[in-house]
Amino acid sequence: MLRKEDPRFLRGKGHYLDDVQLPGMLHLAILRSPVAHARIVSIDTSAAEAHPKVKAVVTGETLAGLGLAWMPTLSNDVQAVLATDKVRFQGQEVAFVVAEDRYAARDALELIDVEYDMLQPVIDVRTALADDAPVIRDDLEGKTNNHCFDWETGDAAATEAAFARADVVVSQDIVYPRVHPAPMETCGSVADYDRIDGRLTLWSTSQAPHAHRTLYAIVAGLPEHKIRVISPDIGGGFGNKVPIYPGYVCSIVGSIVTGKPVKWMEDRSENLVSTGFARDYVMRGEIAATRDGKILAIRTNVLADHGAFNGTAAPVKYPAGFFGVFTGSYDIEAAYCHMTAVYTNKAPGGVAYACSFRITEAVYLVERIVDCLALELAMDPVALRIKNFIQPDQFPYTTKTGWVYDSGDYEPTMREAMRIAGYDELRREQAEKRERGELMGIGVAFFTEAVGAGPRKDMDILGLGMADGCELRVHPTGKAVVRLSVQSQGQGHETTFAQIVAEEIGIPPADIDVVHGDTDQTPFGLGTYGSRSTPVSGAAAALVARKVRDKARIIASGMLEVSVADLDWDKGSFHVKGDPTKAVTIQEIAMRAHGAGDLPDGVEGGLEAQICYNPENLTYPHGAYICVVDIDPGTAQVKVRRFIAVDDCGTRINPMIIEGQVHGGLTDGVGMALMEIIAFDEDGNCLGGSLMDYLIPTALEVPDWETGFTVTPSPHHPIGAKGVGESATVGSPPAIVNAVIDALQPYGVRHADMPLTPSRVWDAMQGNATPP
Ligand code: CDP
Repeated sequence: MLRKEDPRFLRGKGHYLDDVQLPGMLHLAILRSPVAHARIVSIDTSAAEAHPKVKAVVTGETLAGLGLAWMPTLSNDVQAVLATDKVRFQGQEVAFVVAEDRYAARDALELIDVEYDMLQPVIDVRTALADDAPVIRDDLEGKTNNHCFDWETGDAAATEAAFARADVVVSQDIVYPRVHPAPMETCGSVADYDRIDGRLTLWSTSQAPHAHRTLYAIVAGLPEHKIRVISPDIGGGFGNKVPIYPGYVCSIVGSIVTGKPVKWMEDRSENLVSTGFARDYVMRGEIAATRDGKILAIRTNVLADHGAFNGTAAPVKYPAGFFGVFTGSYDIEAAYCHMTAVYTNKAPGGVAYACSFRITEAVYLVERIVDCLALELAMDPVALRIKNFIQPDQFPYTTKTGWVYDSGDYEPTMREAMRIAGYDELRREQAEKRERGELMGIGVAFFTEAVGAGPRKDMDILGLGMADGCELRVHPTGKAVVRLSVQSQGQGHETTFAQIVAEEIGIPPADIDVVHGDTDQTPFGLGTYGSRSTPVSGAAAALVARKVRDKARIIASGMLEVSVADLDWDKGSFHVKGDPTKAVTIQEIAMRAHGAGDLPDGVEGGLEAQICYNPENLTYPHGAYICVVDIDPGTAQVKVRRFIAVDDCGTRINPMIIEGQVHGGLTDGVGMALMEIIAFDEDGNCLGGSLMDYLIPTALEVPDWETGFTVTPSPHHPIGAKGVGESATVGSPPAIVNAVIDALQPYGVRHADMPLTPSRVWDAMQGNATPP
């Protein structure tokens, strides 16, 4: 089925945040810190206030007076809305101007005079905990260092014992650099506060409108029912639009102060420099195995850079997200991870960029270290993986770090990828090319993701359980509206959720409207990220439709004058068992439900239902990826020649949409593996502040993707579907890096850190794999 939203999007008729125009609307611009770490001595706003088009200038001091200078982050930290005492990263919000137009607001920023007393910045995560490191978060009472949190999982002693018994131990330092989701549409909001009835309407680029509303209610002290958050069409989120940014709060304050609607829209550099980054893990991976390639244990130590404020969005119990799945797809005896997270003078974030809460980092770690082991053992990387896969009869499988994988059948997925790739032929080609001095690499990665956060008993964000509401209303003429708590950012929810409901109640998808992204119009739920929409809200949509169908069955039994047990369902109609001519369609039932005729005893009129779905477990999609690269030995430029992706996301709702999700994720993977990094100089200047410096991939850098699939349904999801939106972003970077390292075997390279730009590959070829 083609996407229902295509006519709108393909004709440029999407309605994005910057399309929102309200009568009398003012424009807000934010003054940002040019330096990474400094004490604010004074701020002089008088010249800006005198600008003829300026309506308000607000500083941290003004906000402090209103009790709004600090806001909670989604990780139980606090973040400055506008700096009061110090600036803690380059790009931090210092003051804002509200003016008649966007240009005047920007001009007035230049009239604000801030005096900074420079402090030494903390940039290197490895030295952030040094005794003499300046304390970044001296706003936190009693804080004497830059420690953010410690976290561990697994069994240290059992892992130590397995390592002691192993024939082979391999360890490798691995960095997953700081990258940015860089959605095509930057972040923004339009706030409209009505002073008369105290209602706030906020259009914002939010992946989680309900959660944001609750937070605004808590922060601003406004009653929740008087706040309406609307996420219009969103031009890509990828995790970047999960956090609450100071800009959103500023627009609310701006509207309260001026009594007018106020729009704030970031430019590209503001988005790259100040909003939620991803990754930034410095990891040491260790793997222990027998000489014949049985993996015994995996151990890892991680140093996590969380920037100046811990803005990570992760369930409370999981400060390191779902990094605990670092044991991958392998049946091992023991595992252990210790992580230390620190504050640095960099933008806050740690968002799950197209992945389920740090799974990308976990998969990268395990898939790199398994490849290092394959090299050490001189084993084919596919054979090593297959030898260690969790077997189909072991599911549900509890990992050594406590995750219960719901279902999986890994070897057929791996073999399908090998079949599409022509794996043996590729190895022959590679051997021939090596003879001739050509650098061809074949990289393999196999991943298991954990998506669909999550069971309420284990998962909440700031105390809000991760269950999803869903409402379905069938109108008298048999057309339906389904209301979701999740929020599409381009994933095609208007199509796939209509398909899910259609499958259950037999109303054509074209007759089912999907409503989302408006807290006044939809039931409560925690939003879209971590590929949770299909596992959680998709299940809710199927179950609410079944609830409606159950009621329809009772009404049909009255219409056909038989008992409910004597009815068969035919996708769209009920008929009397054994006599298909005695039937009523769902549309006829809908009319009867709303009509004047009698309904069976105890049945209320109308045909609608609502539920709140609490998932029993996460879903665990998996996939096998094979990448083929060629490297120019003269320039060290990597070309991804082929990429084979076989994904298993259980029941597939819309194959075309899945294909699109996979293509996007694979393209992301090429970016992260070969091009993208948010780097800083020693003063804390962000070196990736524009798309001239932060390179994102285009069609030119990527091959024609070759995709395939297997289907292993989730046993606990009502239609067996698992999430897929982020699988390809998770699985592709290790496949690409493994391919590059494989190509560099003639140079004896075992590892090099992303992004594998020509200069880094060249360095690796010269024996210097770890860049400064
Ligand atoms: O939460 P998010 O929408 O980003 O991720 P998702 O649940 O994996 O879904 C991404 C898109 O793929 C949605 O339109 C899904 O309905 C669709 N999908 C599908 O057609 N079949 C699946 N088994 C999983 C997702």
